[in-house]
Amino acid sequence: MSIEEYRLKNKRIRDPMSILIDGKKTAQDIKNEIAARVAEIKQAGGKQPHLAAILVGEDGASQTYVGAKVKACEEVGFTSTLVRLAAEVSEEELLQTVEDINQNLDIDGLIVQLPLPAHISVDKVTNRIRPEKDVDGFTPANVGRLTLNWPAYVSATPYGIVELLKRYQIETSGKHCVVIGRSHIVGSPMSILMARNGYPGNATVTLTHSKTKDLATICRMADVLIVAIGKPEFVTADMVKPGAVVIDVGIHRIVDETKKTGFRLIGDVKYDEVAPIASAITPVPGGVGPMTIAALLYNTLQSAEKKVFG
Ligand code: GUN
Repeated sequence: MSIEEYRLKNKRIRDPMSILIDGKKTAQDIKNEIAARVAEIKQAGGKQPHLAAILVGEDGASQTYVGAKVKACEEVGFTSTLVRLAAEVSEEELLQTVEDINQNLDIDGLIVQLPLPAHISVDKVTNRIRPEKDVDGFTPANVGRLTLNWPAYVSATPYGIVELLKRYQIETSGKHCVVIGRSHIVGSPMSILMARNGYPGNATVTLTHSKTKDLATICRMADVLIVAIGKPEFVTADMVKPGAVVIDVGIHRIVDETKKTGFRLIGDVKYDEVAPIASAITPVPGGVGPMTIAALLYNTLQSAEKKVFG
C-alpha cells in the first residue's frame, strides 16, 4: 500500500500533508527481502540462518515477544531454537547455557529475553554472549563499535527507527534531533546513531532524560522528535514544532470497552493532536513496534553472512 493509500484509509490523519510512516508495511518489506536472500543462500547450498532465544521464567509479555520472534524466523526461512529455563534457574546454569550456544557452530544469533529474574545479573549474562552472535546489540563490544561508527549489531528499536527514516527518505543532516529517554536499549544508541557521520545521522542531537529542565521548550526546537519515555500520551501538540518528524517508541495497553478485546494500544505521543501538525509520524500500533522483529532478523542474517565482524 502506498503512503497516499494508507493515509486515505487511515482517518486519524487529518492533515493531508502529513506522512504516515507505516512500520507494519516496511517491516513486511524487510521480511520479504530477508526471505528472498535466504532462498538464494539455500539454493546455493548454504546453511539456513539460525537464531537461538533463551527465555527464563513465565513472564507473559516475554513469552509473547519470544513467540513472535520464533514465528518470524519461520516466516523468513530461518531455523530457530527456543531454550526455556525455569524462573529459579541459577545464574551459573544460565551462563553455561549461553556458553553452549556461543560454542554451537550452527547458531548465528543468540538473544536472552529480558527482563531476567532478580537473582540473575543482566550485565553478567549479556557480557557472556559472544559479540559475533549478539544480534540484540546489547554487549559492550557492540555498543562500543556502534559508538565508534564501526560495523556493529544495532539493537532492534534504534535499528528499526533508522531504517524507517531511510526508507521514507527523511532528511536528518543538519537537523535538530531531540531524543526523550536515555535507556541503554533505545534512547542512548538512538542519540549516537543520529549524531554519527552518515545517513541517517549528521543531526545535532539533544538527549533528554528525567533530570532535563523545561523539556517542552527543548521538544519544540526539534525537527526530528524521538519519544521513548514510556509514559502514555506524554507528548502533546504544544510540545511539537509544526512540520516536525515524530517517532513514537511507546506502547501502552489501555482499557477500551468499545473494543472486542477490551483494550487498545496507545503510544508516548498524543497521536490525534500531534499528527495534524507533524510532517511525518509513526502510529501506534503499526509504527516502530513491527520494525523491531524485522531488525532482529536482519541482524541474524548479517551474522550468518559474516557481514559485521567479518
Ligand atoms: N525485552 C524487551 N525488549 C527486548 C529486546 O529487544 N531484546 C531482548 N533480549 N529482550 C527484550
